[in-house]
Amino acid sequence: MNDPTPNRIARRSAATTDMYDRAVRAGLTGHTISARSGKSVRLADGEEYVEFVSCSYLGLEDHPRLVQSVRTALDLYGTHFSSSRNSVEPAEARQLEELLGEVYPGMSALVFNSVSSVHLGVLPLLGAGVLPGYPIAAQGPLFVIERTAHASMQALRGVLEQVGPAARFRIEDPQSLTEALDLARSQGRTPIVLVDGIGSMGGLIDVKSLSDAAAGLGGYVYVDDAHGISISGPRGAGYAFEALGCEVPPSVLLVGSLSKAFGGSGGFLLTHRAEDVTVLRREANPMVFGHSNMITHVLVNTESARMHLDGTVAELQRKLWENADLFDKANSAGTLVNAGTRSPIRGLAMETEEAAFASAVKLREAGVLCFPVFYPVVARGTGLLRFALSAHHTPEQIQSVADCLASV
Ligand SMILES: Cc1ncc(COP(=O)(O)O)c(C=O)c1O
Repeated sequence: MNDPTPNRIARRSAATTDMYDRAVRAGLTGHTISARSGKSVRLADGEEYVEFVSCSYLGLEDHPRLVQSVRTALDLYGTHFSSSRNSVEPAEARQLEELLGEVYPGMSALVFNSVSSVHLGVLPLLGAGVLPGYPIAAQGPLFVIERTAHASMQALRGVLEQVGPAARFRIEDPQSLTEALDLARSQGRTPIVLVDGIGSMGGLIDVKSLSDAAAGLGGYVYVDDAHGISISGPRGAGYAFEALGCEVPPSVLLVGSLSKAFGGSGGFLLTHRAEDVTVLRREANPMVFGHSNMITHVLVNTESARMHLDGTVAELQRKLWENADLFDKANSAGTLVNAGTRSPIRGLAMETEEAAFASAVKLREAGVLCFPVFYPVVARGTGLLRFALSAHHTPEQIQSVADCLASV
């Protein structure tokens, strides 16, 4: 009871300062908005601000086709059909999965309510070796988790350890990956490497090298490319798909988000065999024990998938990367995390929480909202200002950030 560090969660809580609360009180985050137009939002003080917070990198969410699909959903079904996902679903849910199969030719898609639900539903079954397309050694799996893999995967460690042990590695330290893979080999286990595609706070992961390394051991790479979907690649198939050579190699399980650039809501998994989807629909925890996706979002997702296939998304991708170039040129004096890369996220890393706080105050005074983050999102004692870029930002809005950062 008196032990100040009884477990990892308690230790993390003890190391978390009140910085987030202070940032909320100072109006730097935790906002409530009462109106939006493009990238402009109205805050509780009645003023309009330019936001670099939303992860809707293509600005699809107010596209007339998606807005109309919500109206259609309401007319057809009302707001919701509350059942477990594998008992009743609207026809559009299956259409969405078929359309995703066209975005990723040859793959079978399964849509969940969220990316976290994909992880919870898929990883234990994958590790248990019950997915026909992804055999696992008799000795079981070794989960090999990259240090910066998204928290929604890290949080499952205790669940995964019911299926097989876990090891960690750092993407910037190839030796740590070699050691983890050697451990899998020496124990006769199948390595399952868990990584992001585009890191939510960091950079681009070299998914191709990881896929080759895992394939050499009969293992798999499970890629959470939540931030990479739609923003690049043919038909908006995403960063990881493109980096993998515009295919999903047999050693890769690719996971995407429908809630970020896709303009809708939910998460999806791509598998190589339809039989995998059959097992997951029958046995994945959120499919069996969770409610179905909101009907309005199912129809939004389906329409957005059509916009990936008909070229609408390709045009928005072009605008996003133009804006990213503009942002990098305007800020060329400073060093921004991800500058010059094909990530839609830029970051200003600060050595102290106080420095990040002070800079976020200046930005807000200049009418700009960024996302200031502190431990446990970034390393203890440090801060990061995160900027999410969008196809919808105007050159003036981008310049306003640069002008303010120049004085920070
Ligand atoms: C990389 C990544 N994976 C997973 C998630 C969780 O997504 P969801 O809210 O759909 O569970 C996020 C959330 O932002 C994310 O950035």
